[in-house]
Amino acid sequence: MNKPQIAAILYARLADATDLRSQVKQAHWNLRSPQFIALHELFDAIAGRLDAHIDDLAERSVQLGTPAQGTVRQAAAASRLPEPPAAPVWLDWLIAQLTTHAENVRAAIDQTAGLGDMGTSDLLTGMVRELDKDIWFLDAHRA
Ligand SMILES: [Fe+2]
Repeated sequence: MNKPQIAAILYARLADATDLRSQVKQAHWNLRSPQFIALHELFDAIAGRLDAHIDDLAERSVQLGTPAQGTVRQAAAASRLPEPPAAPVWLDWLIAQLTTHAENVRAAIDQTAGLGDMGTSDLLTGMVRELDKDIWFLDAHRA
Protein backbone atom coordinates (compact mmCIF):
# COMPACT_ATOMS: atom_id res chain seq x y z
CA MET A 1 0.00 0.00 0.00
CA ASN A 2 1.53 3.30 -1.15
CA LYS A 3 0.46 5.64 1.64
CA PRO A 4 1.81 8.92 0.14
CA GLN A 5 0.03 8.15 -3.13
CA ILE A 6 -3.23 7.50 -1.30
CA ALA A 7 -2.77 10.68 0.75
CA ALA A 8 -2.32 12.64 -2.51
CA ILE A 9 -5.64 11.24 -3.76
CA LEU A 10 -7.29 12.20 -0.46
CA TYR A 11 -5.79 15.70 -0.65
CA ALA A 12 -7.24 16.29 -4.12
CA ARG A 13 -10.69 15.23 -2.94
CA LEU A 14 -10.33 17.29 0.27
CA ALA A 15 -9.53 20.42 -1.74
CA ASP A 16 -12.52 19.93 -4.04
CA ALA A 17 -14.86 19.12 -1.13
CA THR A 18 -13.74 22.26 0.75
CA ASP A 19 -14.24 24.40 -2.36
CA LEU A 20 -17.61 22.77 -3.06
CA ARG A 21 -18.79 23.26 0.52
CA SER A 22 -18.07 26.99 0.23
CA GLN A 23 -19.98 27.13 -3.07
CA VAL A 24 -22.96 25.38 -1.48
CA LYS A 25 -22.98 27.96 1.33
CA GLN A 26 -22.70 30.74 -1.27
CA ALA A 27 -25.81 29.26 -2.91
CA HIS A 28 -27.55 28.96 0.50
CA TRP A 29 -27.00 32.69 1.08
CA ASN A 30 -27.60 34.14 -2.38
CA LEU A 31 -30.39 31.97 -3.74
CA ARG A 32 -33.51 33.67 -5.08
CA SER A 33 -36.20 31.21 -6.06
CA PRO A 34 -39.91 30.44 -5.68
CA GLN A 35 -38.63 27.34 -3.85
CA PHE A 36 -36.40 29.44 -1.60
CA ILE A 37 -37.02 27.86 1.79
CA ALA A 38 -36.86 24.28 0.55
CA LEU A 39 -33.62 24.87 -1.36
CA HIS A 40 -32.10 27.18 1.27
CA GLU A 41 -32.51 24.42 3.85
CA LEU A 42 -31.44 21.62 1.49
CA PHE A 43 -28.27 23.51 0.54
CA ASP A 44 -27.40 23.88 4.23
CA ALA A 45 -27.95 20.17 4.84
CA ILE A 46 -25.67 19.35 1.90
CA ALA A 47 -23.01 21.72 3.26
CA GLY A 48 -23.23 19.85 6.55
CA ARG A 49 -22.70 16.50 4.84
CA LEU A 50 -19.73 17.92 2.93
CA ASP A 51 -18.34 19.13 6.27
CA ALA A 52 -18.38 15.54 7.51
CA HIS A 53 -16.68 14.38 4.29
CA ILE A 54 -13.99 17.05 4.71
CA ASP A 55 -13.32 15.88 8.25
CA ASP A 56 -13.10 12.23 7.21
CA LEU A 57 -10.81 12.95 4.24
CA ALA A 58 -8.42 15.04 6.35
CA GLU A 59 -8.35 12.55 9.22
CA ARG A 60 -7.78 9.59 6.90
CA SER A 61 -4.76 11.38 5.46
CA VAL A 62 -3.32 11.85 8.95
CA GLN A 63 -3.99 8.19 9.75
CA LEU A 64 -1.84 7.32 6.71
CA GLY A 65 1.00 9.51 7.96
CA THR A 66 0.48 12.66 5.87
CA PRO A 67 -0.57 15.85 7.70
CA ALA A 68 -3.93 17.26 6.63
CA GLN A 69 -3.69 20.26 4.31
CA GLY A 70 -7.13 21.69 4.84
CA THR A 71 -6.92 25.47 4.99
CA VAL A 72 -9.09 27.53 2.68
CA ARG A 73 -5.96 28.78 0.89
CA GLN A 74 -4.69 25.24 0.34
CA ALA A 75 -8.10 24.18 -0.93
CA ALA A 76 -8.31 27.18 -3.28
CA ALA A 77 -4.89 26.41 -4.71
CA ALA A 78 -5.58 22.72 -5.25
CA SER A 79 -9.28 22.58 -6.18
CA ARG A 80 -10.09 21.66 -9.74
CA LEU A 81 -13.71 22.80 -9.53
CA PRO A 82 -14.58 25.99 -11.42
CA GLU A 83 -15.61 29.20 -9.68
CA PRO A 84 -19.34 29.96 -9.95
CA PRO A 85 -20.28 32.50 -12.64
CA ALA A 86 -21.51 35.98 -11.67
CA ALA A 87 -25.21 35.14 -11.65
CA PRO A 88 -25.60 31.38 -11.62
CA VAL A 89 -28.81 29.39 -11.58
CA TRP A 90 -27.76 27.92 -8.26
CA LEU A 91 -29.74 24.70 -8.48
CA ASP A 92 -28.30 23.81 -11.89
CA TRP A 93 -24.83 24.95 -10.87
CA LEU A 94 -24.76 22.82 -7.72
CA ILE A 95 -26.07 19.76 -9.53
CA ALA A 96 -23.25 20.11 -12.07
CA GLN A 97 -20.58 20.62 -9.41
CA LEU A 98 -21.79 17.78 -7.18
CA THR A 99 -21.90 15.51 -10.23
CA THR A 100 -18.30 16.38 -11.14
CA HIS A 101 -17.22 15.86 -7.54
CA ALA A 102 -19.04 12.53 -7.32
CA GLU A 103 -17.37 11.31 -10.52
CA ASN A 104 -13.95 12.26 -9.15
CA VAL A 105 -14.70 10.49 -5.86
CA ARG A 106 -15.86 7.46 -7.86
CA ALA A 107 -12.52 7.42 -9.70
CA ALA A 108 -10.71 7.69 -6.36
CA ILE A 109 -12.61 4.63 -5.10
CA ASP A 110 -11.08 2.57 -7.90
CA GLN A 111 -7.64 4.17 -7.54
CA THR A 112 -7.38 3.50 -3.80
CA ALA A 113 -8.72 -0.04 -4.18
CA GLY A 114 -6.11 -0.59 -6.89
CA LEU A 115 -3.45 0.60 -4.45
CA GLY A 116 -4.66 -1.99 -1.94
CA ASP A 117 -6.31 0.42 0.52
CA MET A 118 -9.78 -0.99 1.01
CA GLY A 119 -10.31 1.23 4.08
CA THR A 120 -9.97 4.44 2.07
CA SER A 121 -11.88 2.95 -0.84
CA ASP A 122 -14.75 2.09 1.50
CA LEU A 123 -14.70 5.58 3.05
CA LEU A 124 -14.98 7.13 -0.42
CA THR A 125 -17.74 4.69 -1.37
CA GLY A 126 -19.82 5.94 1.55
CA MET A 127 -19.24 9.52 0.41
CA VAL A 128 -20.28 8.88 -3.17
CA ARG A 129 -23.46 7.22 -1.97
CA GLU A 130 -24.35 10.41 -0.05
CA LEU A 131 -23.38 12.61 -3.01
CA ASP A 132 -25.58 10.57 -5.34
CA LYS A 133 -28.48 11.00 -2.91
CA ASP A 134 -27.95 14.76 -2.69
CA ILE A 135 -27.81 15.03 -6.49
CA TRP A 136 -31.17 13.26 -6.55
CA PHE A 137 -32.57 15.61 -3.86
CA LEU A 138 -31.45 18.61 -5.91
CA ASP A 139 -32.59 17.25 -9.25
CA ALA A 140 -36.07 16.51 -7.90
CA HIS A 141 -36.57 20.28 -7.50
CA ARG A 142 -36.19 20.86 -11.23
CA ALA A 143 -39.42 21.23 -13.17
FE1 LIG B 1 -27.81 29.80 7.13
